[in-house]
This record gives sequence, C-alpha cells and structure tokens, in this order.
Amino acid sequence: MNNFYKKLKKPFFVLAPMEDVTDFAFREMFARYAKPDILYTEFTSCDGLISAGREKVENDLLYSESQRPIVAQLFTSKPENMYKSCLIVKELGFDGVDINMGCPDKSIEKQMCGASLIKNKELAIELIDSVNKVGLPVSVKTRIGYNKEEINTWIKTLLLKKPKALTIHLRTRKEMSKVPANWEHMKKIIEIRDEISPETLIIGNGDV
Ligand SMILES: Cc1cc2nc3c(=O)[nH]c(=O)nc-3n(C[C@H](O)[C@H](O)[C@H](O)COP(=O)(O)O)c2cc1C
Repeated sequence: MNNFYKKLKKPFFVLAPMEDVTDFAFREMFARYAKPDILYTEFTSCDGLISAGREKVENDLLYSESQRPIVAQLFTSKPENMYKSCLIVKELGFDGVDINMGCPDKSIEKQMCGASLIKNKELAIELIDSVNKVGLPVSVKTRIGYNKEEINTWIKTLLLKKPKALTIHLRTRKEMSKVPANWEHMKKIIEIRDEISPETLIIGNGDV
C-alpha cells in the first residue's frame, strides 16, 4: 500500500472537503495557485456509485494528476457498498479513502451516515474494515462527539482501528458550526493517539 501520509512534511495543510464547493474546477484552481498538501473530493455516496446512476455520481470523482495526493471522501451505511465503491475508487487511482462521520445534515443522518455514526460505533468499525479490505489508506473525518464531547469513547474507538489519518472537526454534532472550534481538546486527543495508534496522523479542523 502506498501510504502517502508518511511522506508528508510537517507542518502540512489540507483543503477540507466541502459538498458543492470542492469540485474538480475548485480543486484544480487550488492545485495550480495555492496547492494544499492533500485534496479531497466532495463527499460521494457509495450507494449512488454502485447504482445505475453511477456515471452521474462519478463526476464527483474526477481529478487531475496535479491534484495528488487526492483522497475520495465517501459515505454510506452499508459496508458492502463501501467495499464495492472502494474497488472503483482504487481502479480510478485515488491515493486514499476518507469516510465521512461528521456531516450533521438531516438527510444524511437519516441514512445512518455522517455524524449519526458517532452513535453507532459497530457500524463505523465495519465501514473502516470495508475500506481496509481493498488496501487503500483509510482515514476518517469526524467530530469530537454527538451531543457532548466523547473523546474517551468515540475518538478512542476510531483510533483502535489504527486509521492512517483522523481529521477531527473540533465541535460536537450538536454545536454544528455555531460555536468556535475548541482546539483545547487537541491535547487529550494527541495523548490518546500516542497511546493507542502513534502512526495515525491527526488533522485538526475548524476555524482555520
Ligand atoms: C459548504 C460546506 C460544505 C461542506 N461539505 C463537507 C463535506 O462534503 N464533507 C465533510 O467532511 N465536511 C464538509 N464540510 C465541513 C468542512 O469540511 C469543515 O469540517 C468545516 O467547515 C470546519 O469548520 P470551519 O468552517 O469552522 O472551518 C462542509 C462545510 C461547508 C461550509
């Protein structure tokens, strides 16, 4: 497995994935004029990707060589669909897969995706396992908890899976983006990372 995260020089900066924003053209502009160290696609539905409408959904996964390292951000609540989508993403030549476990959008949560996975740790683990089966570097983007800070439980659960990277939006689901991101939590997160999975790269997110 080509783990590009290991080659990143510190400090490094990534451009956060943003639905309806970080499309091909937006990423291409950044790649040319202000290249971040990692680029992500908009979040992309695995269920859509393996449906008859695949062609339309695949537009989200267009990229150019100048955008590398480029990571596909995916979401689904079905481990089988995650696995099948990762096979496609691998075939397309992506450098990694990021699973969205932080989106607070009601329509996404209703599908048991995004932030609702914070309340369903078993499923979150299964989804990570599905990416691992394909052999692409796996990362997760999430929040510090659902209604309250759950670093000792939720973040620990994720770190036990030893993802290559973990992006933490330093707000809870309940906080949405209405309060300042709480970077004071980072100390505790790093301590747990050092104890459980020292190889996992922690990426802080929020109010950057
Ligand atoms: C318009 C918009 C779209 C977003 N779409 C996604 C997305 O597709 N996937 C994701 O993980 N986060 C998404 N986010 C969240 C951002 O990646 C990031 O976590 C958040 O904006 C960080 O907080 P900040 O705005 O305080 O920097 C989105 C945010 C915005 C504003």
